[in-house]
Amino acid sequence: MNSKGIGKVDHFVGVASGKGGVGKTTVAINLALALRKENYHVGLLDADIYGPNIPVMMGLSEKPKIEEGAIMPLKKFGLKVMSFGFFLEANQPVIWRGPLVSKAIAQFLNDVMWGELDYLVVDLPPGTGDPSITIAQQIPDVSIVIVTTPQEVALADVRKAITMFGEMNVKVLGIVENMSYFQCSHSEEKIGIFGKGGGENLSRQMDIPLLGAVPIDIELRKGGDEGIPLMADKEDSETGKIFKAIAKNVVELEAD
Ligand SMILES: Nc1ncnc2c1ncn2[C@@H]1O[C@H](COP(=O)(O)OP(=O)(O)OP(=O)(O)O)[C@@H](O)[C@H]1O
Ligand SMILES: [Mg+2]
Repeated sequence: MNSKGIGKVDHFVGVASGKGGVGKTTVAINLALALRKENYHVGLLDADIYGPNIPVMMGLSEKPKIEEGAIMPLKKFGLKVMSFGFFLEANQPVIWRGPLVSKAIAQFLNDVMWGELDYLVVDLPPGTGDPSITIAQQIPDVSIVIVTTPQEVALADVRKAITMFGEMNVKVLGIVENMSYFQCSHSEEKIGIFGKGGGENLSRQMDIPLLGAVPIDIELRKGGDEGIPLMADKEDSETGKIFKAIAKNVVELEAD
């Protein structure tokens, strides 16, 4: 049944990190698709108002329609998708201050025709600071998936982010280590370009489950650039299987 807002959304999963460029949007999109492949009804909300990347990475450029006072999400690869980027002209910067961002997020939660969803995956903006926390607090009972790379500078920022979410009583569900290793197709060897074991150590130290480790995969980057995410057409690849396992872990932890 169609209904406006998030009243019929069962689970909210926010994808965050302490650092920019570690692969939040990539993880958010492919996690949403992996959940969809498990037959869940899934929405994807781009809460990165200043740098919305979901339109390009999902290959979407139409403007959403307004029907009976509700914003209709776009549909692609079986997901309902909403992004502030759908309302911007190409290359148009957003120079709003915090309160306006909060208002926009509230509108995306309350005025979009999300309907019945098992999961709404939210791509949060980069950084540990105010924007990501404020937005996370606007989402009822959100569970945060933290994305990190294995390198020490990323991990340091992620520790800070986890502590901050904790202090604000926002639940951190687990960690995804992205760009974990590179495996050349001619060899079994996994090369730790950004270091090794960082996600595991962090998981142990902070007592937060490691949901999975995603390799550096050219197909992931290509998928993002071309607007056809890896999980949309390569779910049986090694990386696809890893995203499926991450989705299963999220489902299990959310069921607890
Ligand atoms: N595991 C990976 N293998 C290869 N490329 C990747 C991987 N993860 C992310 N990328 C690429 O790295 C770039 C940055 O990823 P992405 O945009 O998902 O990061 P982000 O954390 O959302 O960035 P921002 O902080 O700007 O929002 C993109 O071009 C993406 O396709
Ligand atoms: Mg992003």
